Amino acid sequence: MSSDKKKIYVTRRVPQPGIEFLTSHGYEIKINESDDAIPRELLLQNVPGINALFCLLTDTIDDAVLEAAGPSLEVVATMSVGFEHIDVDACKKRGIRVCNTPNVSTDSVAELTVALLLLTARRMLEGVAAVKEGKWGKWKPMWLCGIELTQRTVGILGLGRIGYGVARRLKPFGVKNIVYHDVCKVSYADDVGATFVDFDTLLRDCDIICICCNLTPQTRHIFNKEAFKAMKKEAIVINTGRGGVINHDDLYDALTNDEIFAAGLDVTEPEPLPADHPLVSHPKCIILPHMGSNTWDSRNQMSETAAKNIHSAFLKEVAVGDVYR
Ligand code: DGY
Repeated sequence: MSSDKKKIYVTRRVPQPGIEFLTSHGYEIKINESDDAIPRELLLQNVPGINALFCLLTDTIDDAVLEAAGPSLEVVATMSVGFEHIDVDACKKRGIRVCNTPNVSTDSVAELTVALLLLTARRMLEGVAAVKEGKWGKWKPMWLCGIELTQRTVGILGLGRIGYGVARRLKPFGVKNIVYHDVCKVSYADDVGATFVDFDTLLRDCDIICICCNLTPQTRHIFNKEAFKAMKKEAIVINTGRGGVINHDDLYDALTNDEIFAAGLDVTEPEPLPADHPLVSHPKCIILPHMGSNTWDSRNQMSETAAKNIHSAFLKEVAVGDVYR
């Protein structure tokens, strides 16, 4: 890369709309032509002198990366809602903008959250396995019985855009009430008739808890031994936020000791969760491979939004995904 054009490094192959947008604006783009997460060394080799870094949630963007990039770096744009992989404080100190892709994956993640809840509550994967393995015998009154959503109390941890999308979708199932816990009360909670509760009340009163929050020092392992013990024995926990919100060893014990009914996880810690991890084969746990936003609609828009964020940052305009300003 050697012209006067703004230089952008893209850490992985991403959907075309973002690349087309950047190309049509005349930027100089270099893409790591791989479908796998970029090795750290390669990242460090490619950032010197760039003006923008288009990255993904698998890339750790810390001070060493910023240092390697040098003073030309104006913006780090991640093609994700979550930005816990970026050292935002280090970026701030260096005057580097940080942008994410809010809004565009709200529907896909909210839909998948509800699907995972239904799969988990109604034990559908056990049913599918039984059919495939020839274990489907004559109809039995007490076989593979699950839990209905009707008349249940649903708790949302993190009533942001996605949590709100989940609450809206669950209302028509006839749930009894919706409560939520978040860092602060949110105005649109009224729209879905959701009541703010403290975390202990969320644990104690809910039949279903959907984790839709970010991973922060405050939410790391907030679902631990004590939390599971405080929950109802029939409770279901669904996590489409970030894996680190749950202590997985404690979840394994809670499921094994029948302290809760079941868990559905789209996010784990680590990712990928090794196939021999005890939770993977636990009959009361369904694990998906972090696929909440895996729709072409979302992914194309995520790519385009990340690209537009970079463009806005170059123009010194407000960006859709400004994490801070
Ligand atoms: C995000 O955007 O942060 C999701 O976890 C991946 O789509």
